[in-house]
Amino acid sequence: MKKTKIVKYPDPLLRKKSQEIKDITEDINELVETMVKVMEKEKGIGLSAVQIGELKRVVVINSGEESQVFINPKIEQSSFKKEILEEGCLSFPELFLKVARPRFIKVSALNLKGQKLDIKAQGIMARVFCHEIDHLNGVLFIDRLSFLKRLKVRKALLNSK
Ligand code: CO
Repeated sequence: MKKTKIVKYPDPLLRKKSQEIKDITEDINELVETMVKVMEKEKGIGLSAVQIGELKRVVVINSGEESQVFINPKIEQSSFKKEILEEGCLSFPELFLKVARPRFIKVSALNLKGQKLDIKAQGIMARVFCHEIDHLNGVLFIDRLSFLKRLKVRKALLNSK
């Protein structure tokens, strides 16, 4: 495996939109392999390709027992009901914030064989999907805070430099 570093805030790459995957090529397989290794090494529960510098719509999630791959994941439905829980991000070391996320979601995606997946997720898994799919759209968890809280966090992040 190539040595891979996590792209960290405020790297402008994190604000870019990732590209849809048209063909699941050998390169995509290699990318996934690297992502899984990085996620496991960093003990993350989710990782998006942009976080290792590839603007591709690929997400890996560790559900506890195993790592799963989601290509072109898309939120199809989300519950009106939200849940507020503390959340972290490998691109923001040591920052944990309470973020409101839908309690239930439905996600469509492809697996590495190109087969369509329809996933229902709730609780922490729903949260991880929302967080990682946000990354694919250049959206970060600090954007999901209320306006006042966001100002506070921005200030703290600037002062920590
Ligand atoms: Co993240």
